[in-house]
Amino acid sequence: MALTRLDKLLADSGRCTRSEARALIRAGRVTVDGAAVFAPEAKYDAACVRIALDGSAVNCTQTRYLMLHKPAGVLSATEDARQSTVIDLLPPEYRRMRLFPVGRLDKDTTGLLLLTNDGDFAHRVISPKKHVPKRYIARVEGTLDDADIAAFADGIVLADGTHCLPAQLVILAPDLGQVTVYEGKYHQVKRMFAARGKPVTALHREQIGALALDSALAPGQARELRLGELDAVFAAD
Ligand code: URA
Repeated sequence: MALTRLDKLLADSGRCTRSEARALIRAGRVTVDGAAVFAPEAKYDAACVRIALDGSAVNCTQTRYLMLHKPAGVLSATEDARQSTVIDLLPPEYRRMRLFPVGRLDKDTTGLLLLTNDGDFAHRVISPKKHVPKRYIARVEGTLDDADIAAFADGIVLADGTHCLPAQLVILAPDLGQVTVYEGKYHQVKRMFAARGKPVTALHREQIGALALDSALAPGQARELRLGELDAVFAAD
């Protein structure tokens, strides 16, 4: 059981800073299991109590998991001096939570990007040893054919000699493929198609594991993962 000070728990929620939390608590605006607590130093296990601010429940668990519909034109990074990043897209309360993207999508790639402050989770998703499938829709120059499907299934050898793990390619239209990869090499999908002489003109990630991008999220919108969705990341489709 991990006991944490109430002011820290409240600040961990992202609603306020630690000093603002102390003021809110002293003002009697914070309740624990329905009763006002005036002592910022009082300790609780966030998993075992219901903390509320001005009557509305506050999620004080420190680890957060969000899905973002990444638009084109933003960097999968936490900060950049010149360009906007996926963190800049988040509502203000999330910007204090030290969230970072789970892996990277290229600046021009759209679709499902997970954000978290849980390093172990991110590692499990990214690690090629864990074989978490990532599914993309790629528009290409040229015409996809059965030889491409076979080459993806065998494991593409990139232009620099790097061997990729076997991947699945489904042809949706002559110039549109759905590809599932189990690792995350730099520019991997683009380089795989380039190795087939069919450069990618647009790339969108639609799924990680069995977790699909929520179609209700417009480009640039994010939401927290719901119950069961965290497990879906590691589940088979
Ligand atoms: N592969 C790519 O080439 N680019 C991405 O953004 C993701 C996978």
